[in-house]
Amino acid sequence: MSIRFFLLSLLISAPYSSWAIDPFTIELYQSSCVICHENGAGGAPKSFDDNVWQDRLAKGSDVLLQNVISGYKGMPPLGMCSDCTQEDFVDLIAYISTEQAEE
Ligand code: HEC
Repeated sequence: MSIRFFLLSLLISAPYSSWAIDPFTIELYQSSCVICHENGAGGAPKSFDDNVWQDRLAKGSDVLLQNVISGYKGMPPLGMCSDCTQEDFVDLIAYISTEQAEE
């Protein structure tokens, strides 16, 4: 495969990967963030509730990412996901702060 074709295929696939929710992201969510965010325990912004996330998102994604990594008020560092990478947290924040269709 030529490098040109490779770069082109990257360009084409990029938008799709950012729209679809990676099942792995959901798995990570279910094994850590869900404990507090599903019901808003301890004042955690409730998952998938657009309204409560507006103020949080207004801080900027870098701040949110940093707060999850270092811990923020009632949230322990890494949101109890010690295996999560920085990219995983970016995906997780996007996932829980957006309304999701009921299953
Ligand atoms: C032990 C409970 C707990 C777990 C587990 C947890 N959170 Fe939180 N989270 C909280 C609480 C409580 C807040 C709200 C803190 C506040 O504003 O008082 C919060 C806030 C946040 C915020 C907003 C931070 C801000 O700056 O306003 C983000 C983003 C977030 N959590 C993401 C996650 C992600 C992603 C995970 C899973 C990897 C996770 N949380 C796991 C309790 C938790």
